[in-house]
Amino acid sequence: MAAYEGYVDVKYKPHKDDLICRFYMEPKYGTPFERAASAVAAESSIGTWTDISTNKAYMKRLAAHVFHMDPHSGYIDVAYPLDAFEKRNVPQMLSSVAGNIFGMREVSNLRLYDIQFPKKMLEWYDGPHFGIAGVRKLLKVKKRPLVGTIVKPKMGLNPRDHAKVAYDAWVGGCDVVKDDENLTGQKFNPFEKRFLTTIKARDRAEKVTGERKMYMVNVTAPGKEMLRRAKFVHDNGGEYMMVDILTVGWSALEDLHDFNHKLKLVVHEHRAMHAALTRNPKHGIAMLPIAKLTRMIGFDQLHAGTIVGKMVGGTEEVTEVVSALEKPVTPAEGFALGQDWHGIKPTFAVASGGVYPGHVPAIVDKLGMDVIVQMGGGIHGHPGGTVAGAKAARAAVEAVAEGIDLRSSKSAELQQALDHWSGVKF
Ligand code: 3PG
Ligand code: 3PG
Ligand code: MG
Repeated sequence: MAAYEGYVDVKYKPHKDDLICRFYMEPKYGTPFERAASAVAAESSIGTWTDISTNKAYMKRLAAHVFHMDPHSGYIDVAYPLDAFEKRNVPQMLSSVAGNIFGMREVSNLRLYDIQFPKKMLEWYDGPHFGIAGVRKLLKVKKRPLVGTIVKPKMGLNPRDHAKVAYDAWVGGCDVVKDDENLTGQKFNPFEKRFLTTIKARDRAEKVTGERKMYMVNVTAPGKEMLRRAKFVHDNGGEYMMVDILTVGWSALEDLHDFNHKLKLVVHEHRAMHAALTRNPKHGIAMLPIAKLTRMIGFDQLHAGTIVGKMVGGTEEVTEVVSALEKPVTPAEGFALGQDWHGIKPTFAVASGGVYPGHVPAIVDKLGMDVIVQMGGGIHGHPGGTVAGAKAARAAVEAVAEGIDLRSSKSAELQQALDHWSGVKF
């Protein structure tokens, strides 16, 4: 192995303990595909740009191998030996397989499309505490999709008005109410005050409706403060917390999961900032490995895309992500590698972002009943206000669960919502 050469071996049979990464790659103009593929494997394991005098024979076993490549489609599969990774250290794993390589001169584009974890690595983690079945049990909702909202406006309300919006949404029919991604503990709505006021509103809503209701408060903050907030939620009657997974970062997520062993809160993950990594189809990191990493670390609900709605994300991409989150064994299909989860619980997929009641049939058709349908503007923008908006959202979900066309539903609020948003183009 000289410098970047010698890391391609199409005869190599991956070992059952290897971690496999699938990349889409475009070599720099004039660089042969094989040379660029070899450079990716080298730089993400033990190599550098030139021959060096400090290599030892014993470290060869830590080298990555490109064992499959297809210059026509641009995909390469790279196997990494388990010993290249530190136990329970996702940041270290990503510094290897999603580190320097995106900026190498040998490639003009590189996208980490999927990661397949070996059983031994999954054994380092324990996965979600609740998973889909646990969340359904807690909420006492057996089959239909869950209905959620985001308090809107996304920030600016004071704690009292925030709690009132949440109350109206619960009473109208929402199961879960969450904060928006950029509301944490600002001066105009401090974390503790908001939580305590809103959780009281939850208790009242549970009494009035006779249903379980959950408040997913956003604990996103620097490490120690985030853990303190999680404990505050637990100590004051909360059952759920929400975290912005990418802005807090991977090390904070591992800490949060471990800390949550004692608390046992359900964790809802918002993926704000993901499109900086995922949006360019040729470069960056796809949503699929991000989703799989958070299932492995162990969170219960993740924004997975909507197919319809205000955010980009096509059917193939979103269904691959949902399958990776929810299936006990993810099938290899399309460009996805497949994954045996070895008993790690599934993560509930959340469809959120520009959704209104008229989207529910399409979302359930593509993603199935195990989905949390969240509407912010699609509830609080209802001409009759938040209670009416939540009634419309709940009626849409119930109609779809019963196989009834939305226009045949007897809910006046739903008919009004369908009329109101009939001009929506996405
Ligand atoms: C938003 O806040 O804009 C949306 O919830 C984004 O949803 P997504 O993370 O599912 O794309
Ligand atoms: C979210 O954080 O999921 C979004 O705020 C969704 O809001 P929207 O339904 O108004 O797009
Ligand atoms: Mg939002």
